Amino acid sequence: MFLKNEEEFSLQFIGTLLQIATMYSAEQQAQLLAKAEQFRQRLNMPDLLGFGENDIAQIRLIINFFDWRYYVLNEPVFADYDYDRLFKKLQELELKFPLLISPDSPTQRVARALTDEFQSVSHLASMLSLENSYNISDIIDFDRRVKELTNATVVDYCVEPKFDGASIALVYENDMLVRAATRGDGTQGEDITNNAKAVASIPLSAPFSKFGIAKIELRGEVIITKETFEKKNAERIARGEKGFQNARNTASGSLRMKDPNEVAQRGLEAILYHVSFAEDAQEKNLIGTTLSTHQGIIEMLYKCGFKTPLQELKVCESPEEVDAFIQTWDRRRYDFPIETDGMVVKVNSLRLQQQCGSTSHHPRWAIAYKFAAKQAHSKLLKVEFQVGRTGAITPVAKIDPVPLAGVTISSISLHNEEFILEKNILINDTVIVERAGEVIPYIAGVVTEMRNGTETKIEFPKVCPSCQSPLVKPEEESIWRCDNADCPAQTEERTVHFVSKDAMDIDGLGRSIVVDFIQRDFIKTIEEIYRLPYADILQLEGWKEKSVSNLKSGIEDSKNRPLWRLINALGIRHVGVTTSKDISGHVQSIFDLTQMSIEQLTNIEGIGPKVAHSIFDFFQTPSNVHLIEELKALGVNTENRPEDSLAKNNKLEGKTFLFTGSLQQFTRDKAKQLVEENGGKLLSSVSANLNYLVVGEDAGSKLTKAQKIETIVILTEDEFLQLIA
Ligand code: IVH
Repeated sequence: MFLKNEEEFSLQFIGTLLQIATMYSAEQQAQLLAKAEQFRQRLNMPDLLGFGENDIAQIRLIINFFDWRYYVLNEPVFADYDYDRLFKKLQELELKFPLLISPDSPTQRVARALTDEFQSVSHLASMLSLENSYNISDIIDFDRRVKELTNATVVDYCVEPKFDGASIALVYENDMLVRAATRGDGTQGEDITNNAKAVASIPLSAPFSKFGIAKIELRGEVIITKETFEKKNAERIARGEKGFQNARNTASGSLRMKDPNEVAQRGLEAILYHVSFAEDAQEKNLIGTTLSTHQGIIEMLYKCGFKTPLQELKVCESPEEVDAFIQTWDRRRYDFPIETDGMVVKVNSLRLQQQCGSTSHHPRWAIAYKFAAKQAHSKLLKVEFQVGRTGAITPVAKIDPVPLAGVTISSISLHNEEFILEKNILINDTVIVERAGEVIPYIAGVVTEMRNGTETKIEFPKVCPSCQSPLVKPEEESIWRCDNADCPAQTEERTVHFVSKDAMDIDGLGRSIVVDFIQRDFIKTIEEIYRLPYADILQLEGWKEKSVSNLKSGIEDSKNRPLWRLINALGIRHVGVTTSKDISGHVQSIFDLTQMSIEQLTNIEGIGPKVAHSIFDFFQTPSNVHLIEELKALGVNTENRPEDSLAKNNKLEGKTFLFTGSLQQFTRDKAKQLVEENGGKLLSSVSANLNYLVVGEDAGSKLTKAQKIETIVILTEDEFLQLIA
């Protein structure tokens, strides 16, 4: 048994990880890597013997290992391209030998069938909530109560982040994931097993038997990282869809979607932090006996392949130490990649936890410490209606500028008409502004007591604010749209999107120039970007030979972009960068998309029915097909060229990078591109998973933190460039 006594576990947080054996020993990892390399070579060569049933188990082991490295450790091993080929090989072999499919095969993650209704299931142990605390005196009271209940004089507390997501309970029996459920009413939840399997960091099997455990129920949180949330939200808003309100709602909503395929695309992750039930083969309870500390449990979960708070937790010996640690986190949480709404303080010894017991509502051995909410009050001055590139009308609140968590906020999306009605927002109201995700501000509510009769209803327009066409709203949608394809506001948004960084990346063609060119009728449709009258532009105020020639070369360069950029640039609803990259690998040219049926589109990995319909509809519209024909005729690349493979070489394969401080030699975007082109991966925070921290000028906390982790190599910008030279 790897669990030692509690004293040995008062090791401090960062660094512990390095001393703990992982899910796979170094030796196993080396063997799997060598095996993987053999398979990679076999995939590259004509295989005389061919792949057969004997390969299935091996490929499955390798892919499960890769998934663990990628989703749990953020340390990818293979380039996506090789991973995908190996995965496909496994799918092919399983199709040939269906009897050999095992429930923990990585191919079984995404169930094909849609869920009609989630069944209600009973938790093995009820899912209690946590009592809240807000300051040191609450913590001192909690410590006093724990000591009274247990008669202990010294109590160690394990303190870890309180992840802001949706709680989940996973049951593993004989090492296999057999059930996943939502919290529900605490006693009964909804069976969401198929959706949980689509969360890549939840292992389909885990070696609990090595710890003498036959059946176990785990608690955790399904979350979406700040970065993924922002990205997915930006993609939705760009597509003219309703933005997600916050990461928590997104995570819990995603878990209850009918199509596991769509769940898989949401980028959810699961962090496990509690064992509520564990028994051995004789059905004997193991909690408080062989499982002796909370930290030990977290280490076990980590070893079994789960994402856990192992790197973030700290064992504290007094309420003062607990408070000091919480205060550091209150500052640090903004840099932490996952949304946290507080910290959880848990009695570390499971024996003492049992002595504390629980009320019907919460355990007496744990308490949540809630960070102060970031809120401010302001006046709603007026509402403007913006037209998105797909014609979606978004109401935007203009408020009296108010500082909140480090930025001044003057403009906030009100999403749609329903949101306004739901929150009962009026012009001149005093509104409560919160920053969800500490990034995107939103209106949490209205202070109705402050109303004085001057408030007026927000009138939603009946016609487009840009082209005056009547607005329409399909019954099943909550968004009003302008249907006029020639609407100048839509042309503006579509063009701005087309030239943007994540699309055709045209240097020197920002929004103000686009607006000016549209007003001058230089751009009426997108392809006219490639037919600009440069001689006329040269005559305009503010333009010189040099700036016109820069604009021209920016536009010329964009003709040579990889296919995924063009796909993204077209602004098809539901299709963002990730989907565009998925699609581009599966077609020879953009014209293939015009010929594909919904079924063929759905066969592309990463594309669900909704996206497939949207792509299909897009190319049913003759003006869209005309646009790509025109673009091709104007010399824009419309082909999937071998040289555009995302990783150009594998110099940095399996290596992770983070850039900090102000970079002098290249921009952040360029840095990202260089890492990706060389087969490396970017991380968003310092952790033991990071291989290289590249440091610009005035680097701050990230550098200090990285210096404490022995395995991270710290590079100057020059050293980084040498690495890829
Ligand atoms: S422990 C029996 N630890 O917070 C105690 N909960 O407000 C089990 N949560 O329902 C909970 N992070 O969904 C625990 N590190 C963490 C947590 C955590 C988030 C959630 C959990 C719980 C809620 C209570």
